Amino acid sequence: MINIAVLASGRGTNFEAIVKAIKSNYLKANLKVLITDKKNAYVRIRARTHGIREVFIDPKRFNSPMDFEKETVKILKEERVKLVVLAGFMRVLSPYFVNLYRKRILNIHPSLLPAFKGKSAIERAYKYGVKVTGVTVHFVDRKVDNGPIILQESLKIKDDYSLEELEENIHRIEHRLYPKAIKLVIDGKLKIKGRRVIVEKF
Ligand code: GAR
Repeated sequence: MINIAVLASGRGTNFEAIVKAIKSNYLKANLKVLITDKKNAYVRIRARTHGIREVFIDPKRFNSPMDFEKETVKILKEERVKLVVLAGFMRVLSPYFVNLYRKRILNIHPSLLPAFKGKSAIERAYKYGVKVTGVTVHFVDRKVDNGPIILQESLKIKDDYSLEELEENIHRIEHRLYPKAIKLVIDGKLKIKGRRVIVEKF
C-alpha cells in the first residue's frame, strides 16, 4: 500500500474526508503523517483524534521557505511518503520541493481553474457574480493553482444563494471529489500528456 502525507493549514475538513475514505477502504493508502505550518490549525486535533502522526513545522524557525521545505522533506522521507496531498495548505511550494515530488503532489482548489486562483476563491467567485463555479483537483507544478487538472466538478450559483450556502455546497463537492482523484492517482489510472490528464479506460 502506498504511503501518503497530507499538508494542511486550517480546519482540515478535506483531511477528514480523506481519512474517512481510507477507513472505509475506498482508498488503499497509509496516511502516515499530517504536516502543518500553523500551530493552532484545527486539523492537528483531527489527526490526533484519529491517531495519525501530526507534525507542526514552525516557518518562523527557518531563514527561507526552502529550509522549511527541507524539514518537511526530512519527515516525508522518514515516513517513506510517495504521494503528497495538499489540503488547504496555504504556502507556495518552491521549485526545489515540486521537482523532488514531480507528479506526486496533488492540490484541491475551490473554483473552476484557471478562474479565481489564490486565496478566498469561493468568495471572489461569488462577489464577481459568476453563474457557474466549482472545484478542481490538480497536480502541482511551479505556479500557484496551475498544474495539470485531474478532476473538476461544476456547480451553478443560484440567484438566492448566500455566500455561506455556496461555501457549504463547494465543500460538499470537495469532500467527494478529492478522494475520487486520489484514488485515480493511487490506482495508476492516469496518463499526463502535457497539460492534459487522461483517465485510462480498462
Ligand atoms: C478548501 O476549500 C481548499 O479547496 C482550499 O482551502 C480549503 C481548506 O479547507 N484550498 C485553496 O484555496 C488552495 N488554493 P479544509 O481545511 O476544511 O480542508
